[in-house]
Amino acid sequence: MKKFPDNFYFGASTSSHQVEGSCHNDWSEWEKRNAKRLAKESRKFSYLDSWTRIMHEAASPENYISGIAADHYTRYHEDFDIAQKIGINAYRFSIEWSRIEPMRGVWDPDELNHYTKMIAALRERNIEPFVTLWHWTLPLWLSEAGGVSNPEFPELFGKYAAKLAEEFSGQVKFFITINEPEIYSLNSYLRGIWPPQKKGILSYLTCMGSLVESHNNAYDEIKRRIPDSMIGAACNMSYFESGKGFINKIITALSVKLWNRYFTNRVKSRIDYVGVNYYFHNRINYGFSKNENRSVSDLGWELYPHGLEYLLESLAVYNLPVYITENGLADASDEKRAWFIEVSLRSVMRAMENGVDVRGYFHWSLIDNFEWDKGFWPRFGLISIDRKDLSRRIRIESCDRYREIIEKGI
Ligand code: BGC
Repeated sequence: MKKFPDNFYFGASTSSHQVEGSCHNDWSEWEKRNAKRLAKESRKFSYLDSWTRIMHEAASPENYISGIAADHYTRYHEDFDIAQKIGINAYRFSIEWSRIEPMRGVWDPDELNHYTKMIAALRERNIEPFVTLWHWTLPLWLSEAGGVSNPEFPELFGKYAAKLAEEFSGQVKFFITINEPEIYSLNSYLRGIWPPQKKGILSYLTCMGSLVESHNNAYDEIKRRIPDSMIGAACNMSYFESGKGFINKIITALSVKLWNRYFTNRVKSRIDYVGVNYYFHNRINYGFSKNENRSVSDLGWELYPHGLEYLLESLAVYNLPVYITENGLADASDEKRAWFIEVSLRSVMRAMENGVDVRGYFHWSLIDNFEWDKGFWPRFGLISIDRKDLSRRIRIESCDRYREIIEKGI
């Protein structure tokens, strides 16, 4: 049995729009316009093993309206009490920009105070806050003005970051500027499946460029106000595994460069750590995703937790501390989560033994939440939320395993 260092962060993550409830932003508007269509299209999931269990929920338009979500906005005390019972000592959550700046340049003191109180509630429980500035949702005034593709966006993001840094100075040390810039750019500006549904390589690259600049502005604004802060971004990175042969090696190297490293390389001089969200293994063998899929989640995504070790080891090139800002699975019946957590954390331990400076692991998610265009049916939480009365229940097997590893090591 090997213990993790005493100052290692064992955490869990959420994002505002997915858990808070009563959000009024570009996503909540988009949901109203698209819920019926998404419900109709749900048959595309009929190949999943989980289909018979999820089909009613997935076919109902209500599933695609975030609405009250998990009502974390009012129930965060209860959620933090449970988090404390699980034994976690860090919590990653995001600030809902549309609450803070409901109109351009107009800041809402009550909403700022809401997050200040949330941070205090975490500190009371000895849980370190990791604050994400932006997890994809935009105030309406901003989405109506073109959102991320508006040339003013980086400057506006910088001002937003400055406001939050002023507000949280002395209370928050860890900041994540942007969640998964590459997934946002891909789904919102290349594939056109998320708001604002733009399609095209040029719009994708413009979006990525704007997010790079926005990160850099936010970094400078926060550092100026909180010099000892630790600032990074949470990037979605896959473990690309090369099949035999020169061509596969070339494709793998290119994939790593263009997907895993693109954003991080461009903001390298303005990050204090590398933040990585690990969900996907991609075996390259004269084509992508030639995976064995021995174990899959309710969403049909391959579960490959030991890939985390190789991914982390590949990040040693940056010579920076690393935080796993997300890692998890949709598993409503909690059959696989305990195993998944165990193998993931064993992979983290191995990477640390091999010299990678990993400082924290955040499970996605603390509570069941709204999974974007898929709605509520994928259940990612360590804590389950009953959709009827929003009551919370710990997923016992996985939480017990997580607690055991936190206390005793692996
Ligand atoms: C996102 C989360 C999402 C999770 C599971 C990540 O890409 O940051 O918002 O819920 O994956 O799909």
